[in-house]
Amino acid sequence: MSAVLKKSPLEVQRTIHEILEHHAGVQGALLPILHSIQDVLGYIPADSVSDIASALNLSRAEVHGVITYYHHFRMTMPGQHIVKICRAEACQSMGADALMAHAEKHLCCPAHHTTEDGVFSLEATYCLGLCASSPAISINDEVHARVSTSDFNALIAEARGQT
Ligand code: FES
Repeated sequence: MSAVLKKSPLEVQRTIHEILEHHAGVQGALLPILHSIQDVLGYIPADSVSDIASALNLSRAEVHGVITYYHHFRMTMPGQHIVKICRAEACQSMGADALMAHAEKHLCCPAHHTTEDGVFSLEATYCLGLCASSPAISINDEVHARVSTSDFNALIAEARGQT
């Protein structure tokens, strides 16, 4: 499971400019740009909003509005490992709420927050494509099916061992 790697402010700026250049002149590029930035950096830095807006000839409010509309996007640096618990219907029916409650307690971190040590961010997601094997979670880009509370603890211990 690959973790989020922290970049220096200069690397962050360079990454954003490369992504903007790559999409220059492309129609409807806002969402692809936002996805690319978050895929590379793990988040969309607040101070990149004005660069994105001017590259696309949009207002900062328009860019900010799109970022905040989608739950997927975040504007703060996440923890090294992003833990997502599926809360869509099939997983709900197989105990996703209880699993989220367990995760919050185990990590000492409420959903949509990052642990104090910066190692884990805990998020909800809506379908990981494993509905027949719910409840499902992902840690970084790796998905896990039929996750019990003890499976969860083991996966967290494994991720912690990689930090
Ligand atoms: S509903 Fe959870 S994986 Fe589809």
